[in-house]
Amino acid sequence: MCGIVGYVGGQQAAPLVLEGLTRLEHRGYDSAGVAVLGTSGIKIAKQKGRVRDLGGTLPKRFQGRTGIGHTRWATHGPANDVNAHPHTDAKGLVAVVHNGIIDNAAALRQQLTDDGLDLASDTDTEVIAHLVAGSEQDTLEGKLIDALGRIEGTYGVAVMHADFPDRIVVARNGSPLIIGVGEKEMHVASDLAALVRYTTTVAHLDDGEMATITAAGFTTFTADRSSTHKAATTVDIDPAAYDAGEHDSFMHKEMLEQPTVAARVLRGRLDERFGTAHLGGLNMGARETRAIKRVKILGCGSAYYVGQMGASLIEELARIPADAEAASEFRYRNPIIEPDTLYVAVSQSGETIDTLLAVQEIQRKGGRCVGLINVVGSAIARECDGGIYLHAGPEVAVASTKALTNMFLGFALLALQLGRVRDLSIADGKRLIAGLNALPGQIEEILAKEDELSEIAIGLAGAESLFFIGRVRGFPVAREGAQKFKEISYRHAEAYQTSELKHGPLALISDEVPTIAIVPNDELADRNVAAMHEIAARRGPLLAVTHEGVDFGELDAVRIDVPANEPELDPILLTIPLQLLAYHAARHLGHDIDKPRNLAKSVTVE
Ligand code: F6R
Repeated sequence: MCGIVGYVGGQQAAPLVLEGLTRLEHRGYDSAGVAVLGTSGIKIAKQKGRVRDLGGTLPKRFQGRTGIGHTRWATHGPANDVNAHPHTDAKGLVAVVHNGIIDNAAALRQQLTDDGLDLASDTDTEVIAHLVAGSEQDTLEGKLIDALGRIEGTYGVAVMHADFPDRIVVARNGSPLIIGVGEKEMHVASDLAALVRYTTTVAHLDDGEMATITAAGFTTFTADRSSTHKAATTVDIDPAAYDAGEHDSFMHKEMLEQPTVAARVLRGRLDERFGTAHLGGLNMGARETRAIKRVKILGCGSAYYVGQMGASLIEELARIPADAEAASEFRYRNPIIEPDTLYVAVSQSGETIDTLLAVQEIQRKGGRCVGLINVVGSAIARECDGGIYLHAGPEVAVASTKALTNMFLGFALLALQLGRVRDLSIADGKRLIAGLNALPGQIEEILAKEDELSEIAIGLAGAESLFFIGRVRGFPVAREGAQKFKEISYRHAEAYQTSELKHGPLALISDEVPTIAIVPNDELADRNVAAMHEIAARRGPLLAVTHEGVDFGELDAVRIDVPANEPELDPILLTIPLQLLAYHAARHLGHDIDKPRNLAKSVTVE
């Protein structure tokens, strides 16, 4: 999704801004632009396409020590040079970059046109530049406050003005902005990834907060001009986490990190003696935990699917009714919020707008919401009443892998804690802890099969359409497998409940449509094998992700055996080979694995 970078200081801004933008490329974008403010005013370069192409076109005299840049993911108007940010007013005195969506853009565009202005682009952002230029306030801060007062919608916005060359003024409402503090220079960005090469001393803006950034420092305030006295803090992030190293992609690097990060999310949270988990961050005592009557999990995309795995874990271990719902749908059905329900928001980025809005809906109605979040200090993490950080480290690839694994483990820890204040026995608690401790090693075993999985994936890559099927615990695994496959291989991959196949989709099975069946060695294995026979009878090619003990008899199916753990924990192990299948199919097809078309890492617009 769109990215913002800004710099004020003693150095030339353009190279620093461009470097920052390349660090945001993984978020997904279709055009890029940069503006610098020097002695001869504002200069702008922007175009459709990659940041490196933009860098190659900059003239020598593209100079200025204040600069802003942007990567755009089209919302209003197609991806082209004109719609790329930064946008300016008619006189070229103001330059604006913006993430988010202005809901009343059409009305504002009309008013500006009625006032005699020609709008150059189709974007909502351009109106901000004209509104800032049209304000009669005598400071840039006042002009931006004026402009934002007329805007409805979400924004992370950064503005420069030729009459105020020493500063960038920024504002946040729904789209992240982080200020980076350097030595007599300041940075701003929508994502830490663009800052960590220069500084790890940062300040996250809150919604409703604005900031002025000059080489000497920053001040934060609100639209009524009262100071918010925000101080910068140091984040514990290794800049190397944003480097793919010897890997051909971040996705590959991140898949291989899974054993390490899985061990990390468990560290210090398992109580072997009492067979339980300790999650201090939930901010809930035993009595409050016991009072929970229901659990509702909210997330989007893969986070929603892993939420479904989490709901099964909670129901099985704690015997509390639990379900997961797409956060993007939740608030639109005027949900009933119950005081004895524990709401759980699950998100890698902690910035997904749909999940954030769901949390706000819950809190508006007095519900308690905790978060399973990877990015420390992110918007959802800060809005929740408590939570579990996932400690997966920065996840750069658009396709989520290691964060997803740690989400599952976060749910396992939560289920264990909820279970042990109810009827889960100490022996069962210990059984699960042994299973959890074995998981990192078992993930490693699966990753070691990469060559075998790569060959299978190359076979699948030729299919235009595939089914992923599973039952009960296996169904969210199938959903996640299909999701990963479609988003990076661009093949049509559909997940179905194995039991539902013959109620419709069986009509699509042919020798050209492979089915990937999730078949754990559980009480449903026979039923799964029976469904696979029905597919085989229609000449459908079959691949089973399964356990050693499952007998497929005469069935002509390729099998991938994963190590078995406790049945409740098996879903995550069954998921890992599906990541490798998607990755190798996409690689074979020559796709850009980390930046799949049309997708973005943090979906910060609705
Ligand atoms: C798929 C994927 C997305 C995200 C979804 C939610 O591989 O990464 O489906 O899971 O956009 O993102 P977060 O977890 O940041 O809320």
